[in-house]
Amino acid sequence: MRIRGMLVAAAALALTAALVGCGGTAGSAVSSSAGASSQPAQASSATAQSQGIDYLALVNKLNPLPEGWEDALETVHFTNSVGDDVEVEKKAYDAYLELKADLEKEGVHVDLDSARRSVADQQRIMDEFTKEYGADYAKKTVAQPGYSEHHTGLALDLYLVVDGKDVVENEDMMGYPEIWAKIHAKLAEHGFILRYLDGDEHITGYGYEPWHIRYLDDVAIAKDIMEQGITFEEYKAGKVLPEVSYDYGDSKRYTRAELTEAAIQVKCDFAAWEGCELHSLRYAGDECDTQENVDWLNSIDKGAGYTHVAEFLTDFHSPLTEKKPSAWNLDTEYTDYQWWLGRTEDGSWQVVTSGY
Ligand code: DAL
Ligand code: ZN
Repeated sequence: MRIRGMLVAAAALALTAALVGCGGTAGSAVSSSAGASSQPAQASSATAQSQGIDYLALVNKLNPLPEGWEDALETVHFTNSVGDDVEVEKKAYDAYLELKADLEKEGVHVDLDSARRSVADQQRIMDEFTKEYGADYAKKTVAQPGYSEHHTGLALDLYLVVDGKDVVENEDMMGYPEIWAKIHAKLAEHGFILRYLDGDEHITGYGYEPWHIRYLDDVAIAKDIMEQGITFEEYKAGKVLPEVSYDYGDSKRYTRAELTEAAIQVKCDFAAWEGCELHSLRYAGDECDTQENVDWLNSIDKGAGYTHVAEFLTDFHSPLTEKKPSAWNLDTEYTDYQWWLGRTEDGSWQVVTSGY
């Protein structure tokens, strides 16, 4: 997550927000400097002597960075092609160099935008994003300090170098699905997985990020996860969750892309419901978008300035054993649970309230 992203024009923000959903980075300026020929600098320093970290530790919205991690973490620093200092866990860096070299044989060029971030770094990013874009947007795009996988040093944000130009901005990177497919195909053999899969926001809590990869230090496990196309959460839980059924209806008010974006926000919030399993997600219909409902959401979220409303309905199964939040009866199928979202002038959606 580049601080440089703070400089993006407001107009670009809405597009960026739409693309990154709840978990991506804000847009960064596209740079056009060193390009494909640039080599990563030699690792220049190491910090913290390692007694070993758990390369399979799960850090997400529900699981903070394990205690003592920073004492055990061993990292290296290098300067990327746009001149930023990037810190990476030592073995992840070696594996990244091998991945990069392997990709170059296929004419694919990558560099590293961001890898390890301290809790203080994350707090600074959160504060800056909150100041620049407001708390809602910041919460959708920046993990809470202490809960970012980037704290581990094992999460790497790649950027592309295409025809000698650095492509760093999210919406630009999204324009190269065929390059990402080549990159993703090579990840596992170097011990990496893709972390935030398209459509699995209800599990990971974040929108699709083709650039965010995670080092596991275990090629067999990485291959298993990538071949099954599952999330790291599912691998850790030892079970693959059933597919979610979607119904966007036949809206005259919103496009499918707009409703998909709203649904992603619902799924990102849902991911924080530990142990709950999403089964169905449905748009409730255009009749929800009334002035009365707009006024209602604006009265809950004062100053948000919503101009439109969408309601979604979900069916989900509650946890089998006691989890947070504990509002649910255990092992129960809940149906038609409502989610109310407001949309602001710039097109971005916010879950304002949910319930029966
Ligand atoms: N953008 C990812 C979710 C993070 O802040 O860790
Ligand atoms: Zn990332």
